Amino acid sequence: MSGRLMIRNATLPDGRVGVDLLLQDGRIAAVGAALPAPDGIETLDAAGWLLSPPFVDAHFHMDATLSYGLPRVNASGTLLEGIALWGELKPLLTQEALVERALAYCDWAVARGIGAIRSHVDVCDPRLLAVEALLQVRERVKPYLDLQLVAFPQDGVLRSPGALANLKRALDLGVDVVGGIPHFERTMADGAQSVKLLCELAAERGLRVDMHCDESDDPLSRHVETLAFETQRLGLQGRVTGSHLTSMHSMDNYYVSKLIPLLAEAQLHAVANPLINITLQGRHDSYPRRRGMTRVPELLAAGVNVAFGHDCVLDPWYSGGSGDMLEVASMGLHVAQMTGLAAMRQCFDAVTVNAARVLGLAGYSLEVGARADMVLLQARSPEEAIRLRAARLAVVRGGRIVARGVPATMTLDLPGRPSSVDFTRHPPR
Ligand code: FE2
Repeated sequence: MSGRLMIRNATLPDGRVGVDLLLQDGRIAAVGAALPAPDGIETLDAAGWLLSPPFVDAHFHMDATLSYGLPRVNASGTLLEGIALWGELKPLLTQEALVERALAYCDWAVARGIGAIRSHVDVCDPRLLAVEALLQVRERVKPYLDLQLVAFPQDGVLRSPGALANLKRALDLGVDVVGGIPHFERTMADGAQSVKLLCELAAERGLRVDMHCDESDDPLSRHVETLAFETQRLGLQGRVTGSHLTSMHSMDNYYVSKLIPLLAEAQLHAVANPLINITLQGRHDSYPRRRGMTRVPELLAAGVNVAFGHDCVLDPWYSGGSGDMLEVASMGLHVAQMTGLAAMRQCFDAVTVNAARVLGLAGYSLEVGARADMVLLQARSPEEAIRLRAARLAVVRGGRIVARGVPATMTLDLPGRPSSVDFTRHPPR
């Protein structure tokens, strides 16, 4: 999919204003002020709104999405009932229904300005029904969405009979990334063993790793330490991600002061899932009730790349969501208390550039030579986009507009007041 498009008068996330971009052959051909327009080229007037590279969701479960209520709802709302409920649903799944739901979610994602998603896919079903369905979806959506798949042994690669063999079969079929869930194995020792063997498997096959790691309120769940160690031992620096890492919220501060530098040294990526962490963690607490999200500002300060993922939308674990990475960023901002100006921009990065680094996406920027993929938002700055969960005015893929939206507005009828309301403001930069 390619085309020629001139975008006029955009504001960029780094604060540049009045920027034109020429898109040609699926790439950004020129960036500057008052660019000359080739004859007959289609033009998109950005009208000073914020133009960003597309949102990237670094952590999702597309095999479960939009299944809320099947075969019943999660009564307790807990992670463990969600896993049990998913176990009840799995035998009832059909490939057609999986594909249909995944494609429907991908439509939502594109409409929300998402350009790439890393989705875990459960490999504990020996039929590999979900794997085959999502491989098919990955090909079908390729023209408009990058879908990266993680072979995820939901019930534990050691705990679930046949899971390791199934996981290898999934990789043979073309799944991109090796997953894991060490805290769900039977013992701490098995958890550590699972990290070791899965990292070795990834090293052998030249693949990236992304594990659900320490998704627990147990401060002694320390598998991320093993994940960082194996990353270093096998030379996988920069290719391994620890997802969730919620136990770090509850860990002893002294231990964390040793742990975070080890994660930075291993160039481990961290993915927090703010909407899900805030709703699933702390469930055994009375009050005060822990938030459960990992230590985002501290990880960032130590130089660890941190992204935010959506994780779930309308599935056994979460009854909300609509594919809006600005909602995810907003929740992350609030839960981590990242309200300073630089911190709010880091929250925008967590659903854009940082997430692209987790996936290893090439050509992800708004510079000349990069992919002509972007989203135009009804906001003047990244922090304003988060505050307003800004309307998507246009979504561009390969230099072609693939989705168009209208500005959010309301008509007022108030005595002595204007007839419309403008929620945008322009704070001094
Ligand atoms: Fe997850």
